[in-house]
Amino acid sequence: MSKRNAAIFASGTGSNFEAIMEAGDLSCDIVLLICDKPKATVIQKAEKYQVPTFVFNPKDYGSKEEYEKVLVEKLKEANISWIFLAGYMRIVGSVLLQAYEGRIVNIHPSLLPDFPGKDAIDQAYHAGVKTTGVTVHYIDSGIDTGPIIAQEKVEVEENETLESLEEKIHHVEHQLYPRVIREIVK
Ligand code: GAR
Repeated sequence: MSKRNAAIFASGTGSNFEAIMEAGDLSCDIVLLICDKPKATVIQKAEKYQVPTFVFNPKDYGSKEEYEKVLVEKLKEANISWIFLAGYMRIVGSVLLQAYEGRIVNIHPSLLPDFPGKDAIDQAYHAGVKTTGVTVHYIDSGIDTGPIIAQEKVEVEENETLESLEEKIHHVEHQLYPRVIREIVK
């Protein structure tokens, strides 16, 4: 049977995008990057892997519904079955959620439900927790809510700095996300 097509949504550096591209046999083909930040470095990473990219600026549209309708068109054109959010820093709206119900997955750098939203690593570090981690979950209409698929813990050591914690969390993300993608798409 031929592999399903998947799209990655990202807004930033794209280290998770790169980890997914480097992961080898994923049981789906990553055939599209969608990016909402015209200057994001993930765009150059997509060029490196020859992944077609659709870059849009939300400010060019009247509403979330309007740009998500365009995104759904692009996704259908590319015959996309799965969407993987990898540092996509926008709330997914009803147009996209209805078109891809149960097939949009997100990675978040904390043990949800703790520390949702932006700067989760920073939030956990400054809260002084001894254990934090990474969550992969299905998307619903909330901010970093939705059914959890997998979680992995990361210990915060005595002499931990924010930078060293970020490094540890990203390392876990880069192993966990490709593994979860491989499992759920099968
Ligand atoms: C990752 O740590 C990801 O978990 C986080 O953004 C970062 C993107 O890094 N996502 C969220 O905080 C979602 N709420 P990357 O661009 O290097 O992959």
